[in-house]
Amino acid sequence: MNLLNGKETAAQIRQEIAQKVKDHTEKGGKTPHLAAIIVGSDPASETYVSHKVKACNEVGINSSVIKFDDDATEQEVLEKVEEINENSDIDGLIVQLPLPGHISESKIIETVRYQKDVDGFHPVNVGRMFSGLPSFLPATPYGIMELLRRYKIETSGKHCVIVGRSNIVGKPVAMLMSRKGEPGNSTVTICHSRTSNLEEICRSGDIIIAAMGSPGFVKQNMVKEGAVVIDVGITRVKSDKTKSGWKLAGDVDFDAVAPKCSFITPVPGGVGPMTIVSLLENTLRATAKEIYS
Ligand code: GUN
Repeated sequence: MNLLNGKETAAQIRQEIAQKVKDHTEKGGKTPHLAAIIVGSDPASETYVSHKVKACNEVGINSSVIKFDDDATEQEVLEKVEEINENSDIDGLIVQLPLPGHISESKIIETVRYQKDVDGFHPVNVGRMFSGLPSFLPATPYGIMELLRRYKIETSGKHCVIVGRSNIVGKPVAMLMSRKGEPGNSTVTICHSRTSNLEEICRSGDIIIAAMGSPGFVKQNMVKEGAVVIDVGITRVKSDKTKSGWKLAGDVDFDAVAPKCSFITPVPGGVGPMTIVSLLENTLRATAKEIYS
């Protein structure tokens, strides 16, 4: 069993991005600037946004966080998005999800100018990705592809089983794994809560991407010998072994599954850090107008 070490790979990529940011600004380009909107005080979302800000600082990307209370109205958030759309100093904008129930996520996502949509959630970016056109790729799928690429994992002709059908991970990673390209060229099956023979399908997977947010769901008997397992889950679960009273749990029963795998991502330290560097890469691309001029 080999670990797909996202923490180490992401540290390497951060150095590469820092160099690219330096080259860009030395050639007279503007310093990249990412804005993040966060609504409410969900502790996990606050942690993710603080990790994103810290990563920006490390590579020389400016960042701004705009925080709204839980009871902010949809109109207030929309107005802020529109203001940032018009602000030429801000190159990339993310609105941390989930949003409180009274705010329409799709309305907010569609209001972000697609040229600044470094999350890759806007329908223009989703549609362009589906058509194989240049676009901002959503950070988690992008991070997974980069991890597979850097570890030279063979994906061509392999059966990739994805568990979870979210807009953020399951659906886009299915598209990327099946596209013509390296990594890619996989035969993809998307499983979800209504899949009837899920265990059997997982057992036929050469590559399993677990992304349904259900701690320890993928068990030993669901994984074939030699499989590559990518664990996207990061759920906070109670723990009496940590000072905070919680720990992060993946969607894979790591201790039982890992001995069967050729490669597996740990949680934490696997997909999470790769997601953050993908956002940095997208922000730099937005600034350099690499995708949309
Ligand atoms: N919530 C969980 N993942 C993400 C992400 O990649 N971007 C945003 N904006 N919110 C998230």
